[in-house]
Order: sequence, then C-alpha cells, then structure tokens
Amino acid sequence: MPSFLVETVARRYEAIVERGILDRAAAYIPERAGTAFVVTTADVWRLYGERVDRALGARKHEVLFFAGGEERKRLDEVERLAAEMAARGGERSSMVVAFGGGIVTDVGGFLASVFMRGIPVLQIPTTLLAQVDAGIGGKTGVNLREGKNLIGTFHQPAAVLIDPGVLSTLAAREYTAGLFEVLKHGVIRSPELFRLMAGQPEAVRARAPEAVDRMIAESVRIKAEVVSADEREGDLRRILNFGHTVGHALEAETDYTRFLHGEAVAFGMCAAAHLGRLAGVCNAATCQAILDAVALYGPLPPLDGIAAGNLAARLRGDKKTVHGKVHFVLPVEIGAVRIVSGLDETMVLEAIQAALA
Ligand code: GLY
Repeated sequence: MPSFLVETVARRYEAIVERGILDRAAAYIPERAGTAFVVTTADVWRLYGERVDRALGARKHEVLFFAGGEERKRLDEVERLAAEMAARGGERSSMVVAFGGGIVTDVGGFLASVFMRGIPVLQIPTTLLAQVDAGIGGKTGVNLREGKNLIGTFHQPAAVLIDPGVLSTLAAREYTAGLFEVLKHGVIRSPELFRLMAGQPEAVRARAPEAVDRMIAESVRIKAEVVSADEREGDLRRILNFGHTVGHALEAETDYTRFLHGEAVAFGMCAAAHLGRLAGVCNAATCQAILDAVALYGPLPPLDGIAAGNLAARLRGDKKTVHGKVHFVLPVEIGAVRIVSGLDETMVLEAIQAALA
C-alpha cells in the first residue's frame, strides 16, 4: 500500500495508507518518547481500544477521552485534556496519539501543539473524512461561536497512519460525509478521482475495498502534494478550501449541530459550482457535473429555516476573508479550480439561494 511524503519547513513525514497499519503503531513512536497519550472518543475506543493497547504493547500509554462533537471542539475541552495529561505524568518527552475522526485529530493536534509549548503528535485518523483530509497537513484547532477553527495552530504530525480497514465499522452518515471531501479532491485536482466517484457510485457506497483504497490513496497523494508546496496556506493550499467558505458559514449558522462537516462542504461545493457558473469561471456543464455528483451521495440533511442572507453575511467573518474581501475557490473544469475575490455580493447571494433551492 502506498506511502506519501509530506515535506514542510517544520517537518518531513509520511502519510501511510495500509490495511492493518493500526497494529504497527508502536513503530511510529520514537524510542526516546515518554508516555503516549491517546486522545480518542469512547465509541472509537470500544471498537479498537484492545487492538491499540496490544499494538502499543510495552510502550507506556494513557487514554484520554474526549466527548466528541463539533460543538464541544472548544478551548475549555483542550484545557481539561491538558490538565488531565499533567495530572497523569505528562511532560516534555510525552507524545499525543490522536486516534479518531476529524474533531479528534484537530483537538489532539492542538493539544500537542500547546502542551508544554509543543510535543509531537502521531495522527491515526479513523473516519474517511479524517483519513483523506483532517488528519494530514498539520492544521489543528477549536471553534469559537463566531466561526469555525478560529483558534488553532499549524503542528505537523510525526506521521499519519491510515488504516482503511477501520472504515468497515464507520456509521453510514459519517462515511458519506467523508465522501464529499473525496469528491472535493476530484474537483480541485483529479479528473480520474472524480470519474471514480461519479461513475461507480455503487462500489463507492458499498465500501468496496478497491474503490475505498483508490479514493483514499488519490486523496492523500493530492493532500500531501498541496501541503508540501504550501504548508501555511499562502497560495496553493487555499484550493483545499473548495466548498468550505459557504460550508463553514452553514455550520456556524446552525451552531455546529445540524450538519456534519462533510455535509456542509457538500452544500458549499454546490454553492461554489453555481457561483462558478454565474461568474463565468466555469460552464454550465461543469456546474451540473458537480451538482450531479453531490446528489449521487445525498440526500443532505434538510436545509429548511436557513436564510441565504445570513450565510452570505457570515462569509465576512471566515478565516479566508482577507482585508474584508471574501475569497472563493471556484471550479474552472473538473480537476482545476481558481481563487476569485471581489465578487459582487448579489451574485454570491444568488449562488447560495440556488444551492439552498
Ligand atoms: N482542510 C483543508 C486544509 O487542510 O488545508
């Protein structure tokens, strides 16, 4: 199974996609490391705790539970986890093992980046979304009521261990939410991946191992390549935010309770497709191909009661807004996107309304 090198100024590490790699986790904890603090959720630990315990074997490790949920991805939870770590012997030689979905990889990574001014983190993502996106690339963070991930750090992991086998126990809704991040990678950089998603929905939905392994490997290849070129999102990395500008607004508008991140991104990709068409960046066929591909993996949770104007207003508070200008990642054709700013607000509103319809 493939391994992809992520090369940043801060660190050079591997993202390894391999069935069964969970059982070899100890090999990725340096000999000199002290206690490994596994940050996880009760449901993940119930399914895989024994395997991880066995994999870590004689390496000293402690388990820290996080309740999970986007609404609990907050600073006070990080303080609680850090206090628990300190009480259980955490020190500079300790390491965090973030073992769970995207919320756990974000919170675990953030905890590692600030505990005693920074200790290493090993990322072991267990949801499709975290395996193809959140667990790779060093973005960590927590939410403010004002917006998603507004507090955070860049903290590159020691390695990312991706075991597609664990997806067999993933809840259907979580799996589908991850598919939308895979689709994102297809739209921004891989017509081949898009063809797989649009052309073989039965295999994708059924989690056929060949389809799953291809989706993950191609997504991780793209993510590793983009992060290596632009760790701090000064330029190229912004393309990974396709669908996220409006997606984050939707999550914040609904207090992080109605949509999984991937579902909100799916809605955001539809809005970006409409905006691409309205702004003349892509043709109607490209816009429709994106809408159709999203619909293949729907339906999304109902959008009733959500006002397009409220979402448009929230865009100004997003991290991607620079000097008051909202930056949008818009499709040019399948496999290529362009960053566009300074778009007319009426056009943006029209695109959001079209996506809500
Ligand atoms: N999830 C977008 C990024 O890692 O840049």
